[in-house]
Formats: sequence, structure tokens, C-alpha cells
Amino acid sequence: MLSCTRSLSYLKKMIPKVVFVLGSPGAGKGTQCQNIVKHFGYKHLSAGDLLREEMSKPNSEFGEMIDSYIKNGKIVPVDITCSLLERCMTQSGNEYFLIDGFPRNQDNLDGWNRRCNDKVKLQFILFFDCSLEICTDRCLSRGAAGSGRSDDNMESLKKRFNTYQNESKPIIEHYEQMDMVRRVDGNRSPDEVFADVKKIFEKSMAEPQA
Ligand code: C5P
Ligand code: MG
Repeated sequence: MLSCTRSLSYLKKMIPKVVFVLGSPGAGKGTQCQNIVKHFGYKHLSAGDLLREEMSKPNSEFGEMIDSYIKNGKIVPVDITCSLLERCMTQSGNEYFLIDGFPRNQDNLDGWNRRCNDKVKLQFILFFDCSLEICTDRCLSRGAAGSGRSDDNMESLKKRFNTYQNESKPIIEHYEQMDMVRRVDGNRSPDEVFADVKKIFEKSMAEPQA
């Protein structure tokens, strides 16, 4: 009896728990993810970082294509992004994941539902709501400070914000209808934002994990 209970709890424990982190470019997703990792032990997977890493590999089959999508603020076809996310999740051995900057459009959402959704428990969507002006300032300052990103400039930013408005917002609305969105005002300082984020995660941690 004891060993049966143990093996069942082991199985239950191994279902990865996922939080999607969404918001416009410069809304503070990456900064807050670092805080969440430190305080709550999640593994941070940034879809944008994984794509940039893949793009910079000398022999990457998809390097040029990803480069062009990123410069134009367009969303890379989901099979590429999902494969990168799945590989990291499998290799990490972690149970809790922050998936930052995904799903960004309907293609991302469909691919996720097709490939991953029934293998993980989606806990909630953390959404950083931030004004266009503040997001623009942050991305341009990041570029000026040497982020090295090919898309932290005004020309790419306009395209990225368009993509956010037209393609990513409907995904957030989709999850809002499912009552899965935890909205945080991202217009404030990182510490002020994190005070709210912390409450959300403390509450989630106190709930029974399915
Ligand atoms: O999230 P981040 O700002 O780092 O994303 C940078 C770019 O990476 C996006 O503008 C987009 O071109 C690409 N990306 C993507 N699909 C995702 C996340 C990012 O194509 N799910
Ligand atoms: Mg980021």
C-alpha cells in the first residue's frame, strides 16, 4: 500500500507545471522572471532567448530564417519554437517552468495545444500590462545600453508592437475568457511590480497542485 501511494505521488510530481509570461516588448517579463526564479525556484525559458541562441549557432538550419523573423518582429513558426521549449523542459529535470514570451499568436497556441498541453499542467498566465510609451523607452534604452539585440530599435519596435497588438493580445483575451490571467500593472519600478508578482506566486504555491 505504502509503495503504491509513493509511486502515485511520484507520478503526480513529475507533471511539469507551467506559467506563461506575456506582455508587450519591454513590459518587464524577463526582469520579473529572474526574480521569480530566485524566490520560487522556477526554471525560466524565454522563447525569444532560445530563438536567438538557435540563430547564433553556426550550422543552424533555421538561423537565417529566425534572424529575418526577429528583425521584422514576426512570430517564428511554432514547430521550431515548441521543439526548443520541449528540449529544454525535458533536459532540465525541473518541475516548475516559466515560459516567457509564448504563446504569442494563434499558431503558437495551436502548436502548444497539439504538442504539449496534455503533458503539462498550465497553472496560469502572468500578464504584464504596460503602456506603449514606457515599453518603447525601455526597449530603446536597452538598445542604447548595448543589448546587442537586432530588434531594440525604433523600426523593429514598431513592427513588434503591431504584432503584439494584432496577434498576441487575442491570445491573452483567450486565456482571460478561461479566467487564467493574473494581470499585473507593469508601468512601475521592478520592485513595485515584483511585490505584486510575489503575492500571486505565494497564493499559487499555497493552493493544492493538481
Ligand atoms: O520575447 P522577445 O522580445 O525576446 O522576442 C523577440 C522576438 O523573438 C520576437 O519579436 C519574435 O520575432 C521572436 N519570437 C517568436 N516567437 C515567440 C517569441 C519570440 O517568434 N514565441
Ligand atoms: Mg524578454
